[in-house]
Amino acid sequence: MELLARANELASLGHDVIHLEVGEPDFDTPAPIRAAGVRAISEGKTRYTDARGTPELRQAISGFYKFSLGVEVKAERIFVTAGSSGGLLMLSALLLDPGENLLMPDPGYPCNRHFLSSFNAEGLLVPVDADQNYQLTPSLVEEYWTRTTRGILVASPANPTGSILSQKAIRELGEVVRKKDGIMIVDEIYQGLVYENHTSGSALAQVPEAIIINSFSKYFGMTGWRLGWVVVPEEIATDLEKLAQNLFICPSAIAQEAALSAFDPESIATMEAQKAELAVRRNYLVPALKELGFEIPLMPAGAFYVYAGLPDKVQDSELFCHRLLESHFVAVTPGTDFGFHNADRSIRISYARDLSQLKEAVCRIRKMLG
Ligand SMILES: Cc1ncc(COP(=O)(O)O)c(C=O)c1O
Repeated sequence: MELLARANELASLGHDVIHLEVGEPDFDTPAPIRAAGVRAISEGKTRYTDARGTPELRQAISGFYKFSLGVEVKAERIFVTAGSSGGLLMLSALLLDPGENLLMPDPGYPCNRHFLSSFNAEGLLVPVDADQNYQLTPSLVEEYWTRTTRGILVASPANPTGSILSQKAIRELGEVVRKKDGIMIVDEIYQGLVYENHTSGSALAQVPEAIIINSFSKYFGMTGWRLGWVVVPEEIATDLEKLAQNLFICPSAIAQEAALSAFDPESIATMEAQKAELAVRRNYLVPALKELGFEIPLMPAGAFYVYAGLPDKVQDSELFCHRLLESHFVAVTPGTDFGFHNADRSIRISYARDLSQLKEAVCRIRKMLG
């Protein structure tokens, strides 16, 4: 965020800043969704809704699981939330007591552990490398599980590495967590953004009791609408509803009306075309960075980030990011934003920018590296 503020400041001073620090798609929300939002306002659909989300949207999400992902999820288990952030906030409040922890991979999306610490619980970080596909494995779960561990929180595809858990890996993680009577939370916010022949199913196909957080932010291009959802086991649905009523009253009515159009064939076609464009960018960026000496041991399978080890002659990721921004006007994110493990040797580059900007950024990075 500091870096983003400085990048914006430099841009306002007239510098041609290339923003590769961003965590949101550069595409607009698909037209049918925007039109539905406008319609909702003009038709006055602007009042409080059910705390769990409108029945129509929960039914539409249930249909999405059935027809696109091949799993049956009753609408009663689906809660629409203020982004997936709102969902994880509620789950942290509901599921964890002070002093308890969830195992999480390091590197990982930092806010997820911050939600836990807001309730005096903790994200217990497990260092992971390319050898483990940057994900928790059953043996890591066994090794790091403590007396106060309540479960695990994984993301697939993950931020910042873009790695995905195969269905087999999900199943095996589910088995070890089940054995320990723990909870498994899977952040599937980048679920639709998976490239090539990787499959983008839901963990629910393998671990029916898993708690899922998802969002309209990324694949659906609706970051600023602040809308996401969680899927929970029926046993906790009533308590979650009480929390939702107290904390938020309900998610945005207008955003919910708009999101009803997110599953229209026209919207899906737009989002699939955008995904294809992201794949083209990824396929350009990864080899180009490798040629400059960055280490990228695994091709990111999803999301829109490349997590890269710095070339040997560069020592410190924050210093590198700072210099790249100040002298060449390219903003990228230091690894230290995502954890501690090898963090000062790594950066995250987002390819949510068009190809011409990525090419220009690579030129500038080449210049900086001399
Ligand atoms: C892995 C991951 N989870 C959750 C979020 C939160 O997103 P939102 O609240 O917009 O759904 C993000 C945002 O970047 C993310 O990268």
